[in-house]
Amino acid sequence: MLVSAKEMLNKARDGKYAVGQFNINNLEWTKAILLTAEEMKSPVILGVSEGAGKYMCGYKTVVGMVKGMIECLNITVPVALHLDHGSYEGAKACIEAGFSSVMFDGSHYPIEENVAKTRELVETCNKLGLSLEAEVGAIGGEEDGVIGTGECADPKECKMIADLGVTMLAAGIGNIHGQYPANWPGLSFDTLAAVKEAVGDMPLVLHGGTGIPEDMIKKAISLGVAKINVNTECQLAFAAATRAYIEAGKDKEGKGFDPRKLLAPGFEAIKATVKEKMELFGSVNKA
Ligand code: 13P
Repeated sequence: MLVSAKEMLNKARDGKYAVGQFNINNLEWTKAILLTAEEMKSPVILGVSEGAGKYMCGYKTVVGMVKGMIECLNITVPVALHLDHGSYEGAKACIEAGFSSVMFDGSHYPIEENVAKTRELVETCNKLGLSLEAEVGAIGGEEDGVIGTGECADPKECKMIADLGVTMLAAGIGNIHGQYPANWPGLSFDTLAAVKEAVGDMPLVLHGGTGIPEDMIKKAISLGVAKINVNTECQLAFAAATRAYIEAGKDKEGKGFDPRKLLAPGFEAIKATVKEKMELFGSVNKA
């Protein structure tokens, strides 16, 4: 069964650990993450970007696949199926399709519009028992070769959004999606502490989990981060393992063209990455 992320995040906040959000792209990815969560007895959040949702043939297909896998693989740990960086329309579509959690990323709107749209979604999600993530301060990243440094959120704006009753808040603290450039100054812990001070008990979300040094991850958790998103690191691990398999000529051995065999090294690489992150985030045995 899919669950809202509310209970797992409140527990993580109180227990000073973080639940990992791992983004999914296909069946193998999803299976690897679910099996690892079960092995680690860790709660887990499956993230779906709008692009990945389209790739996987729409949100309804994703809901069907994930629910089917939970049943067939006997997954007993709490699993939330969560829209990542949703538009207003995307959030509504995922709610309709049966997601248990959505993110509405209104960080690019003027704060008044972010507040108005988030408020409406809070009402809908509360009625249906779904969790809702909101964002203040855009997360940086690489787009068309231009690397933007992550914005730092305004704590006052964070409080305005938190007070609407969202389940969790993503606040920009200099974090960036994708790989961090060599001259990245690191997370702004001053911003994180100021945001935490302003929003009180609200579980905070750290995006751009790939490549953040372990000591910064631990410090962020100690300052109120209860959910950490990881995407690129699984992609890198999957690509490297697949490439190594082919470069070693293993795809030419025996019935090397078997798609299940070709995808197996990448599958194992995702499992190893997810396990490592769950250990680092402290969510093992917390299901
Ligand atoms: P990375 O791709 O940097 O791990 O970030 C993932 C993320 O924040 C998804 O919202």
